[in-house]
Amino acid sequence: MTESRSLFGRAGFIAAAVGSAIGLGNIWKFPYITYANEGGSFVLVYLAAVVMVGAPLLLAEFLLGRHTGRNPFGAFVAITKDRPGGRLWSAFGFLPVITISLVGGYYYLVAGWTLYYCIRCVGWALSGFDLTPTEVSASFNTFLANGPLQIGVHLSFTVITGAIVLLGVKSGIERVTKIVMPLLGGLLLLLAIAAIPTPGFSEALRFLFHIGPLSADALLEAVGHSFFTLGVGMGILITYSSYMSKKQSIVRSGLLVCVLDTLVGLVACIVMFSIIFGVPEAERATAFSKSATIMFTTLPHMLFAFPLGQLLAPLFYFLVAFAALTSTISGLEMLVSVASDELGWSRTRAVLVISLVFVAIAIPTALSVGAHEGLSNWQPFGELSRGVFDTFDYTVSNWLLPITGLGLSLVLGWVVLQPKLREEFEIGHGQFKTFPIWQFLIRVVSPIAILWILWEVIGGRSFA
Ligand code: PHE
Repeated sequence: MTESRSLFGRAGFIAAAVGSAIGLGNIWKFPYITYANEGGSFVLVYLAAVVMVGAPLLLAEFLLGRHTGRNPFGAFVAITKDRPGGRLWSAFGFLPVITISLVGGYYYLVAGWTLYYCIRCVGWALSGFDLTPTEVSASFNTFLANGPLQIGVHLSFTVITGAIVLLGVKSGIERVTKIVMPLLGGLLLLLAIAAIPTPGFSEALRFLFHIGPLSADALLEAVGHSFFTLGVGMGILITYSSYMSKKQSIVRSGLLVCVLDTLVGLVACIVMFSIIFGVPEAERATAFSKSATIMFTTLPHMLFAFPLGQLLAPLFYFLVAFAALTSTISGLEMLVSVASDELGWSRTRAVLVISLVFVAIAIPTALSVGAHEGLSNWQPFGELSRGVFDTFDYTVSNWLLPITGLGLSLVLGWVVLQPKLREEFEIGHGQFKTFPIWQFLIRVVSPIAILWILWEVIGGRSFA
């Protein structure tokens, strides 16, 4: 481990890791894919995917990060250097650099939308909200087609993220996430309580937990989402755990992150679905397209109809913006750790250069949601994606995350000497009796699940 590496405090590490996991994936993506996949069985399969694939891989990243005390690339190099295959494996450590650069284009953009909608809702609340659902949808489309504004919202998020990461691991990331995460939990709980008396609440619970038919696509999506939401394959967890104290248990911290991340996704669903099912059935199909934009098109209208809607609407977007922020921070920190470990850059230089790269990548992305026709219709993978934004999302979720996950499971499951791993698990934990279970999941279950995903993707399937 490098001498100068600063370490998170115990709670700080949890706050940062949970903050990284909980984001748009939980509050924006999980509810809409659950809705699109008819709830119930999809949720069950998703939970199974978290337990069998997501959680073991998350533990693997924690292990790799803390053991080597390095960024993802350096970590793969360090752990495989004396093993068969040696440096070849480090390619898997480089993939997260590409992944997060693409994420820096589209994820930051959606994060910017939430910030913009928070401010917009304050305006709507002050002026007395009186728009029809159609008007709200139309105004979202106008917003998307406004190129300079799109670039502006991306830029604002990039600047805020950069400013926090610039302050460093302890005084920036740890301090901010320790304040933001409990606040986020509290706000979400408040929204869930507000949802209880609404007419859609019981139907929401039924939808979420009933057992219904399940398609193969839903299965694919469930495994894929477990990667995205936990941040597995992004290298972020490796970076954060390189700042983890040896006094802390990897197993307990890792499982806590998985549980909290899942809980937040489920509570977000309850809130969203209470809103959706509060609308009479006949109007539901027209009120809610089962699409990714639901959070910005029909939701504002519904939020304002909630008890205390004037307050809850801005609060909701504020919450989502913060959830996104603690994720964008972790993405940037990962790249900063690569630049400072591998290239010897100072934190300031790394933050500035990487943020500029994000903005450069963001320009075509921001213009591809309506402002520029060519960019919005770009289809390098044929029917599988449309536009730069969609293509980046497709590439990250369908290819980059699974491939990096495969690399992790092969390296930690088969390449590295196992007693070394068990030893690291037991530091700060005590005896890890269920090590063989983790080992089985990482050696057999994860690679099979990931190879199946890749097989389907190669065959032309895609998931959100
Ligand atoms: N886990 C995050 C989420 O669910 C995804 C993410 C993490 C994206 C870190 C970017 C950076 O939203």
